[in-house]
Amino acid sequence: MEMPDHRENRGRSLLSDFLIHIHPRTVPVETIRFSLSLGLGGMAVTLLCVLFVTGLFQLLMYSPGTETAYQSIQLMYSEIPLGGWIRNIHFWAGNLLVIVAFLHLLRVFLTGALRDGRQLNWIIGLVLFFLVLFANFSGYLLPWDQLAFWAVTIFTGMFGYIPLFGNWLMQLLRGGNEVGAFTLANFYAIHVGIIPFCFVVFCAWHFWLIRKAGGLVQVERSDTTNIIRVPVVPNLISREAAVGFGLVGALLLFASVFDAPLAEPANPAMSPNPAKAAWYFLGLQELLMHLHPTIVILVIPVLSLVVLVLLPYKASAVLPAGKWFGGAGEGLKFIGGLGGGAGVTFFLVFLDDKLIHAAVSQQGAADIWMRGFIPLLVLILSLFAVYQLLSRKWKTAQSGVVLALAGIVTGIILSLTITGIWFRGPGMQLVLPIG
Ligand code: HEM
Repeated sequence: MEMPDHRENRGRSLLSDFLIHIHPRTVPVETIRFSLSLGLGGMAVTLLCVLFVTGLFQLLMYSPGTETAYQSIQLMYSEIPLGGWIRNIHFWAGNLLVIVAFLHLLRVFLTGALRDGRQLNWIIGLVLFFLVLFANFSGYLLPWDQLAFWAVTIFTGMFGYIPLFGNWLMQLLRGGNEVGAFTLANFYAIHVGIIPFCFVVFCAWHFWLIRKAGGLVQVERSDTTNIIRVPVVPNLISREAAVGFGLVGALLLFASVFDAPLAEPANPAMSPNPAKAAWYFLGLQELLMHLHPTIVILVIPVLSLVVLVLLPYKASAVLPAGKWFGGAGEGLKFIGGLGGGAGVTFFLVFLDDKLIHAAVSQQGAADIWMRGFIPLLVLILSLFAVYQLLSRKWKTAQSGVVLALAGIVTGIILSLTITGIWFRGPGMQLVLPIG
């Protein structure tokens, strides 16, 4: 008599138990539409899994010392089978996660998914977003090449501009006054220990809160009796698998064609020209060239964080649930804001670089009023004027006004980042990307 293979069955039930555990048994059919979530949350989870696995492999190959780190990266490419490929996958997955997490944040906001019991999850999401940035940034130093050394020197140096405790924070991160062996040891511990631990805790919390809110956001309706629900297996699982496997396939292919960057070994005596921060901090670096450091490093981030944390608690500012932009035709407000915000920022960057900087004396350039509070006040008043115009003159609902303002802010962030990446050349001069 043939015996049934219990091991195989057990394996299958463990896997399905796990999948069922993080999902409910059934979900409203409306919430599994790709057009609602764009699969972005699933992509972020997939990328995190890829990062964990490739990160574990890299632990076996990487050596965290200023004398050995660079060489160990070179050996991954020259001596260890698939070592370079694994590093490439880890690098591209980490960078892609910054973009995916940002787009996921936007989709949550643009589909009104921060109301009805989702307020706390929005805040957990913000924590996850900062973890993504910090994970990338702490990993950036580990190859100990010129790119890494100077990007981290620039960014940790930015903390020094925070009044009172800025220097203390900078020294804490660096493990001393300069970027050196202690910085590498600190960043290694943060990157492979503290951050992965925080990801596990906050992701578990994030997923639990999604279940607690009854799944993804749905269009509000008075009659909830005729909501059609479908079993998670196979309806949702098959969609998640398609997104996950598709993404991993594309990533593996990309990583086999494009190597992660590795510049010359770190040389504290010679900075590259231009010396740039990591690309996701280039918006901040660009802003530092125009505004006073205290405003850029302290005032703007703190103000933005307060607004983002409080946003879901102001019900009238949140878009109606479950519809992109709150309804058909409303997207124009966001797109218009984005185009306007980006266009004005590009113009101001050019104007400041070519005319104002030349006209203002060095003394004036360092002045916190000239370069700090006055421009900030102008920005806040301009946003307030848009607010008044839309809500009073065109009788737009408050959530629509917030939508337009969010478009403007997104446009400002994108245009500053694009300028930093493509339009800054030697000496951080404005240049055209081609030629
Ligand atoms: C590592 C980063 C993140 C991971 C792995 C992650 C994962 C997920 C997943 C799998 C979902 C359900 C599917 C989907 O909505 O696509 C979700 C939903 C959600 N996420 Fe995230 N997320 C991350 C970052 C963020 C950020 C940055 C925010 C916002 C600040 C955020 C806020 C939310 C909210 C409010 C929901 C519920 C959406 C709804 O009910 O429709 N998450 N997240």
